Amino acid sequence: MDQNALKALVGQAAVKYVEDGMILGIGTGSTVKYMIDALGERVKQEGLNIVGIATSDRSAKQAADLGITIKQLDDVDHLDLTIDGADEIDDNFQGIKGGGAAHLWEKIVAINSRKNMWIVDESKLVHHLGKFPLPLEVIPFGSTHVLEKLEKMDLHPAFRFNADGSHVLTDSKNYIIDLHLGRIDHPHELANTLNGIVGVVEHGLFLDTVNTVIVGRQDGPEVLN
Ligand code: 5RP
Repeated sequence: MDQNALKALVGQAAVKYVEDGMILGIGTGSTVKYMIDALGERVKQEGLNIVGIATSDRSAKQAADLGITIKQLDDVDHLDLTIDGADEIDDNFQGIKGGGAAHLWEKIVAINSRKNMWIVDESKLVHHLGKFPLPLEVIPFGSTHVLEKLEKMDLHPAFRFNADGSHVLTDSKNYIIDLHLGRIDHPHELANTLNGIVGVVEHGLFLDTVNTVIVGRQDGPEVLN
């Protein structure tokens, strides 16, 4: 199976955990896209009745187009489960997210969710975080000064640009800076440092967040709790 087949596999495996009446956080990314397709199929075939809270405009649109009821986070008092992708997951279940520039909304949804499940192909499992550049969502105003500060801190920052040279914009109209760190030895310390930088709205370290990971393996989905 190629990587896309593994992503489809975990997307389909994840929707089996969705129960009638649930308020479901819906993540973002190419793996979640398969999950939304499978969820739409259950809504259509079984009349599954759920409310989805999307972590990006693109996931909201895909889900709504498939007949899934989408509400805003502020319209619900809790979320039962959130299913999302991840860019890296280490041996301690800590993760990096934000490869799709959606980690701010993803984190807000995740921390308001009773349970969090990540779905990944096996290439996302790592012993140490950091090979995948760590995304930061930053306010455009003064962002070159934030970049300079991060450079001085030896965090190897780079703005994320589109092919046409324009800044990648998040759904909240902010910029992305990626930190090319290679290896993150102390994720909690780094998270604390980044939380203290004015202008950084949110970083992509998702620490102590996830309850269940479904990994796409060649011989089938593996559930890790
Ligand atoms: C978006 C994310 C995604 O969940 C993460 O980038 C994984 O995406 P994909 O499933 O496409 O590999 O954090 O901000």
